[in-house]
Amino acid sequence: MKILAIETSCDETAAAVVADGRQVLGNVVASHLDLHRKTGGVVPEVSSREHVVRLNAVVDEALAQAGLQLTQLDAVAATLGPGLIGSLAVGATAAKTLAMVTGLEFRAVNHLWGHVASNYLTHPQLEPPYLCLLASGGHTMLIAVEAYDRLCVLGQTLDDAAGEAWDKVARLLGLPYPGGPALDKLVGEAALVLDENPLPSPKTEGAWDFSFSGLKTAVLRAFEKQGLSQVALATAFQQRAVAHLVQKTMACAQANGFTSLALAGGVAANGALRRAMQAACEEKKLGLYLPELGFCGDNAAMIASAAYYNPIATGDKAMALGVFSRLGDNNEAYVKV
Ligand code: KG4
Ligand code: ZN
Repeated sequence: MKILAIETSCDETAAAVVADGRQVLGNVVASHLDLHRKTGGVVPEVSSREHVVRLNAVVDEALAQAGLQLTQLDAVAATLGPGLIGSLAVGATAAKTLAMVTGLEFRAVNHLWGHVASNYLTHPQLEPPYLCLLASGGHTMLIAVEAYDRLCVLGQTLDDAAGEAWDKVARLLGLPYPGGPALDKLVGEAALVLDENPLPSPKTEGAWDFSFSGLKTAVLRAFEKQGLSQVALATAFQQRAVAHLVQKTMACAQANGFTSLALAGGVAANGALRRAMQAACEEKKLGLYLPELGFCGDNAAMIASAAYYNPIATGDKAMALGVFSRLGDNNEAYVKV
């Protein structure tokens, strides 16, 4: 089954063609980074307009890479949420329109379940059940993937998302936008060894919940005291944040009897997190699946995979659904229709 998917939930205009949820035939991601660098962050209205400008060429390029015409496809899919409403509306409207004029089936996709599916593109042997740590700019969750279409959120962040914390700390330390990758690079290149970490370890009551806002505030306080260098603070922050993600994930995997783990989302590109997860999984003899770097951040190939394995809805029911900004805003995102 060949699916063309469109992803426009934030600041990447993306389209991809994927066969049977696994084989990437065409994959184009047009980032709006240059535009948002000027403002130091995503301005939703600017992003929506940029999607309008770029989308047609991105879809054409994905089809050209696949060497396919629209009529040779089996379905068209789009992300309906969570994300920026205006941006989502551009991709969803385009995909629904394509489905209408071609007679192809439309499939609605939840962006988060798209991130989970990113590992199917990289690892042909990966099958449920497994535990997925999804860490992105908007979400941080431990998801039990019981079956391809049965995903259960076991724990999540109580405040900031992991990527958001990386971005905010990076901005505070004066690193260039986008902050997460810049901080990762700075720490990696400096390879500083701290005798002692001056920041506290994040704590939460729930065994599988996350919290990053206290850590972020601790960085701010330490920064104001001016005693520590930019690189020392960045290193200390990343050490604590990575340890928190790894410790909660390992505890959740062991308590629930998972033998395989997967990472997903933009933060899954973090070098320190990938290494720390690898070490922890080797020690505990768990299988670890890391997405290819190109599939960690937002892309449409993962949306096409989720459209195959785990759509919110298909056909007329999917056509009747609107876009949604938060996970809780749309029951259909959880409950299949
Ligand atoms: O999944 P994603 O592309 O978009 C969302 O759905 O949010 O995630 C983007 C987030 C940003 O906060 C970005 O700073 C973070 O992922 N990120 C990283 C790295 N690469 C991207 N954070 C830490 N280290 C990285 N290497
Ligand atoms: Zn995302």
